[in-house]
This record gives sequence, C-alpha cells and structure tokens, in this order.
Amino acid sequence: MKKHIVLLPGDGIGQEVIHSAQGALTALAEEYNHTFTFETHDIGGTAVDLHETPLPPSTLEACKNADAVLLGAVGGPKWDNYPSHLRPEKGLLAIRKELGLFANLRPVKGFKKLLHASPLKEEVVKDSDLLIVRELTGGLYFGTPSERRDNGDAVVDTLAYTRHEIERIVDNAFKYAQIRRKHLTSVDKANVLESSKLWREVVEEKKAEYPDVTVVHQLVDSAAMKLITNPASFDVIVTENMFGDILSDEASVLTGSLGMLPSASLREDGFGLYEPVHGSAPDIAGQGIANPLAMILSASLMLKYSFHMEKEAAVLEEAVHSVLEDGYHTGDLHIIDGHKVGTEELTNKIIEFIKCKNATNSIQSC
Ligand code: NAD
Ligand code: IPM
Ligand code: MN
Repeated sequence: MKKHIVLLPGDGIGQEVIHSAQGALTALAEEYNHTFTFETHDIGGTAVDLHETPLPPSTLEACKNADAVLLGAVGGPKWDNYPSHLRPEKGLLAIRKELGLFANLRPVKGFKKLLHASPLKEEVVKDSDLLIVRELTGGLYFGTPSERRDNGDAVVDTLAYTRHEIERIVDNAFKYAQIRRKHLTSVDKANVLESSKLWREVVEEKKAEYPDVTVVHQLVDSAAMKLITNPASFDVIVTENMFGDILSDEASVLTGSLGMLPSASLREDGFGLYEPVHGSAPDIAGQGIANPLAMILSASLMLKYSFHMEKEAAVLEEAVHSVLEDGYHTGDLHIIDGHKVGTEELTNKIIEFIKCKNATNSIQSC
C-alpha cells in the first residue's frame, strides 16, 4: 500500500522522537511491502522562529493533502513569554481545529514488564486497560474571547460547548465501549458547570442507542482519585477537552512514564493526526535520552486507524513489548535489572525486532 505521511517534529524532544517513528515505519514498509513517503513541515516554536507563525499555511496545506500526520511535540521556555498568537501551543490547537480532529483517543495500557515501574502498587496497576476519549476542539481551549481586561487585572476564558459537539464525541465513545468491555464512564463537573449539565443530558439521551453499554457519571475530582486507586474499574472514559488533558497525564503514571502514552486525534472520516501525550520535555531535550515509545505507539495507532494495517500495527506494538521484555528502556522508566539506553539505541532495538519478526514470523526467536 502507498501512503503519504506528513511529519511535524515541532520542538524539543518532538524532533528526536519523530525520527524514531520514521525509522520504525520505514523498516515496516520494507518488510511488509508498503511505500511510505514522508514530508517534514514546521510547527510550534520552530515555525515561529522560521515563519513568524506557529502554524504556517504551507504546513496546514501539506497536512490536508496527506494520508495521515505524525506530530512530535511543541513548546519550550524560549517561547513561553511570546504573545498568545505566537505561542507554539497555538499552532497545535489551530491544526487540531483546522483539520476538524475532535476525537482524541488516549489508550492507557500497562506493559507487563513495567508493572513495577509505576510508583503505584503493582496490585493496583495490574489490570488497568482503559481508553480516554477526550473532546479536542471545543471547551476552554477555544472559548471566545480569551483575553485580559482592565489593564491586565481581569481575565476571561470561556467554556463553551454545543449539543452537536457533545453528541459526536459521546457517540464515538459509546462505539469504542461497544468494541471493548462495554462500560462507559462520563466524566464531568455537573455539580457546578452548565456545560457539564448539558454533557450529562446528552450522555443520558444517547444511552438508549447503546443498550449493551453500561454508563456511569463521575465527577472529575473523584474520577482523578479513582483513576489511581482503582484504575481497573474503568473501560472507556469520555470527557471534555481540559479534563481529558489533565486525566491523561495522570493516567500515564499507571504505565510507568508519560513517555509511554500514545494518542490519535481523529476526524469523523477516519483522517488522523497522531501524537504522543507528552510535551517537548525541555528538561531533557537535546540529550538523546527521550523515550521514543509513546511516539512509536502513536505510529502504531496511525497504522491501525488511518491505514487499516492491523497486522503492521500489531507488529509495532509487539516490538515495544519485546524490547521492554528484554529490559531495554530509557531513563524515565525505572526497570529493575534493565539496560538503560538512549533514544537511538532503543529505536534500533525496535527496528531489529521488526526485521527479525518478519524474517522468522515468530517472536520467540527474535
Ligand atoms: P512534558 O510532557 O514536556 O514533560 C513533563 C515531564 O515528563 C518532564 O520531566 C519530561 O522530561 C518528562 N517526559 C515527557 N515526555 C518524555 C519522554 N518521551 N521521555 C522521557 N521523559 C519524558 O510537560 P511540561 O514540562 O509540562 O511541558 C513542556 C512543554 O511542552 C510546554 O511548552 C508545553 O506547552 C508543551 N507540551 C506540548 C504538548 C504537545 O505538543 N502535544 C503536550 C504537553 C506539553
Ligand atoms: C496535550 C497538550 C496540549 C493540550 C497543549 C500543549 C496545548 O498538553 O496534547 O495534551 O493541552 O491539548
Ligand atoms: Mn497535555
């Protein structure tokens, strides 16, 4: 199959991990007779420096013409005090909005080898396997106007949602629940927020269309607690933009590191942008020690959701599983008796697995 992929490395470790995903995809293409072509474009702070905008029109155009987009991460201290329209993060929000990527899937599943890598007790983490379905193009991030008033002494951020925006994400979440363990937790703050009241109403209405799915409404504060005390009680979580952002970083603790969590940002027609949940990690950028696995797992989600290459997606996941089982990991993961390696070495281990797996078609011998 021929596919054209736009790469948006962005800033900080985004530049490093995107390289790993490209390497893994190139190896897969060779082994499984696909042609993946890559085109790299600027976004975020890098784009601000080069084009005076965090999302150059040429980048957006290239993404619109691609079969899928892979994004590293944006942001960094260099741009932290830039005016809001020149913030790297604005570029990320703009591309999500412009491409209509309203559904952000953040699967959280621990790897066996990493059970003891979490600061949480092994028996708590053990059976966690959940999917956060985060609304991505509405809510506080896109409220108008978001501004400072009264000489900067007053601020306004608005949290707006339409019924349509809620319905489409809730529908998506029900559908994912149907193909998983048929349990949906809708997270809101309906004891306070008007937007959450409408959210809850919509979930209640939609429930009738999915009688095989059990539904629980949970307030976001207690959901945050339950996520790390009883993660196994969750299957699919559906929530608004900012709650989903915060809960997903929290959920990464279950896997041992934020460097393990992938995500897919999808449109109704299946077009997607794939990005790790983590940011540009300025504290470790440029050192060659970033964990590339969240980015590689994001590439696996791209193969599955955008290209329907189930087998190849599974091989990439197996590759991650296998290198971890062999003890290879970056410094963000605390593995007893492991081999701590850098981004490049870990990526090479992934590539070795892909090549070996196809040659022998058996994990044991790899
Ligand atoms: P962050 O996710 O960049 O880093 C948080 C912590 O996790 C850091 O200690 C970092 O070293 C570690 N970490 C994250 N990813 C890692 C990886 N792959 N390997 C090893 N360690 C990893 O969050 P932050 O520090 O709050 O934000 C830094 C910048 O990133 C900010 O400018 C923020 O806006 C931006 N950001 C961007 C995205 C994105 O582009 N999708 C996401 C989150 C944050
Ligand atoms: C994420 C990030 C972004 C978000 C920021 C950088 C705008 O934290 O993708 O999780 O909040 O959506
Ligand atoms: Mn985030």
